[in-house]
Amino acid sequence: MNKKIAVLAGDGIGPEVTKEARKVLDAIAKKYNHTFEYQEADAGAIAIDRHGDPLPSSTLEICKNTDAVLFGAIGDPKYDNDPEAKVRPEQGLLKLRKELQLFANLRPVMAFDSILDLSPLRENRIKGCDFIIYRELTGGIYFGEKKEDDGSGKASDLMYYEEEEIQRIAKLAFEAAQNRRKKITLVDKANVLASSRLWRKVVQKLASDYPDVTLDFLFVDNAAMQVILNPSQFDVILTSNMFGDIISDEASTISGSLGLLPSASIGVSSSMFEPIHGSYPQAKGQDIANPMAAILSAAMMLEHWNLFDEANSIKEAVNTCLENNYATVDINPGSAKKCSEVGDYIVHNILKD
Ligand code: IPM
Ligand code: MG
Repeated sequence: MNKKIAVLAGDGIGPEVTKEARKVLDAIAKKYNHTFEYQEADAGAIAIDRHGDPLPSSTLEICKNTDAVLFGAIGDPKYDNDPEAKVRPEQGLLKLRKELQLFANLRPVMAFDSILDLSPLRENRIKGCDFIIYRELTGGIYFGEKKEDDGSGKASDLMYYEEEEIQRIAKLAFEAAQNRRKKITLVDKANVLASSRLWRKVVQKLASDYPDVTLDFLFVDNAAMQVILNPSQFDVILTSNMFGDIISDEASTISGSLGLLPSASIGVSSSMFEPIHGSYPQAKGQDIANPMAAILSAAMMLEHWNLFDEANSIKEAVNTCLENNYATVDINPGSAKKCSEVGDYIVHNILKD
């Protein structure tokens, strides 16, 4: 297979972890005889510094003309604490999602057997836990009409959804559930929000096309509690943009490190793969960040291309790493390995058989 991949390494630790993901993709290309071509482009704070724009049009062009986007991380503290900043790195990411119509964000959450003790949650609660969050990514309160404070002391963000936006992600979630344990939990706030009641209506109607899938509902406040109390009850969580943002960070506590969780954003004709962690500016340039989330995001990209053996080869190599405690400081503070060493070891495990 011959694929062109846009690489948007971004800010903070983005470039370091993305470099390891590329190393791993190169190993896969070698082992399975594929050709992956990379095209690098700027996004985020680095793009503001260089071009005055967190998503320059040249970057967008590259993303539109490649088979997938491999994304690092964006964000820089110099923008975080300045509510007056006119341009922000995050705007680049949001624009990219919108422009590429990446409407479905998939965030798998699992407990890795060899590091159950890392989670702040009790082992017996998280063992065997394996679910995936389908978060709507191009609508809702993130993209509804905004009224900034103009000095009047008033501001608002509109949570707006249309039936089609709900339908297209719900379909993907139902299909995923059919290939998993056949259960969907719709997380919403239908006791209060009109947009949530639309979600229920649309999803309930769609459910009749998938009679083998059980549909369940949880209000988001209860869901936030259930993710901690009894995460094993979940198979596929389907939810709107902001609820998915919040629940997915919370769910990452199950794996014990944010540095382990990958994500895929699937669109009409584009797709993007990125670790769920942020730019972790404190660790920038130190070669200490965990590259596993970026590497597992590359595995999700291969799965998206139906390269399942290749993706499994990466996942097994990451598991071997964890079993042997060959890991960065977030997982193995006692004898921490470097980001690049972990990448090398994963490559070694992929190529050894
Ligand atoms: C995420 C992040 C982004 C979001 C930020 C960086 C805009 O938190 O991908 O979860 O809120 O979607
Ligand atoms: Mg988030």
